[in-house]
Amino acid sequence: MVIAGPASEQLAFNIAKRLNIKFIKPELRIFADGESKIKLESVENNQCIIIQSLYPPIDRHIIQLLMMIQKCRRDKALKTIVVIPYMAYARQDKAFLEGEVISISILAEIIECFGVSRVITVDIHSQSSLSYFGNIIKNISAIPVLAEYTLQNVFLNNVLIISPDFGGLKRAQKFGEIIQREVTFLKKTRDRLTGMVSIEDVLDFKVKNKDVILVDDMISTGNSIIKACEVLRKNGAERIFVICSHALLLDKALDKIIQAGATEIISTNSIPNSCSKVDLSKIISEVISENS
Ligand code: R5P
Repeated sequence: MVIAGPASEQLAFNIAKRLNIKFIKPELRIFADGESKIKLESVENNQCIIIQSLYPPIDRHIIQLLMMIQKCRRDKALKTIVVIPYMAYARQDKAFLEGEVISISILAEIIECFGVSRVITVDIHSQSSLSYFGNIIKNISAIPVLAEYTLQNVFLNNVLIISPDFGGLKRAQKFGEIIQREVTFLKKTRDRLTGMVSIEDVLDFKVKNKDVILVDDMISTGNSIIKACEVLRKNGAERIFVICSHALLLDKALDKIIQAGATEIISTNSIPNSCSKVDLSKIISEVISENS
């Protein structure tokens, strides 16, 4: 059975439909102090697939996930697979500054010690985060479905694909291979103390009169994409499409990105919002099928 976590109801429904298996939705209550209460029918003797993305409110979504996992364990479910489309805390995969706690390792340890047999996630921010989960985790790339959507729905002229930073170049190249267009990257730096992003505005390639596709794994505050749009507009780019796996869009990021010159933002439904146009149920269901 598919258990729909409160953060991922529609995606869970789509997955259950594709796999043609029972779909259950726990009863959720949020108390005045912010605590969650989950009520779930017995899952005894079932193989359970819990779907819960960890977007904000992140810590609330984590505790809800743990409640569902524990229910499966207490009911003696035959097997528990956890699907976390957006994996929170994956940006803190090492101590960048002395004394910093490696948050993703804590999340990984808790999930593992709850006896989960498989964790499936999508475009985890850093590959090194995966190592904290041992061999129970499978990271799927949403790039093929994002590229397929773009090919079918966005009509482009004279296109250049750009990663907002060097770190994301491989991802953008993978996108570029599918839609068969040229790929390059911007020179972005982030101040580790303030979090401020800056991007070099003198480019060593031409964007004048071109349609640009910016490809990133996630948009959080939007600062990286806003800076990228400003630089690209300044250099004469025509239209700018922003493609990402996870659109958190905090602090009115969507409005600010459009204001900075983006034409459209396209993301997956790892985080349900007005940009989540690409459904992940197909690629997730395929991996679940391989595991059953
Ligand atoms: C950076 O390495 C990531 O790929 C994203 O570009 C970044 O995390 C997005 O964050 P924000 O939207 O806050 O700039």
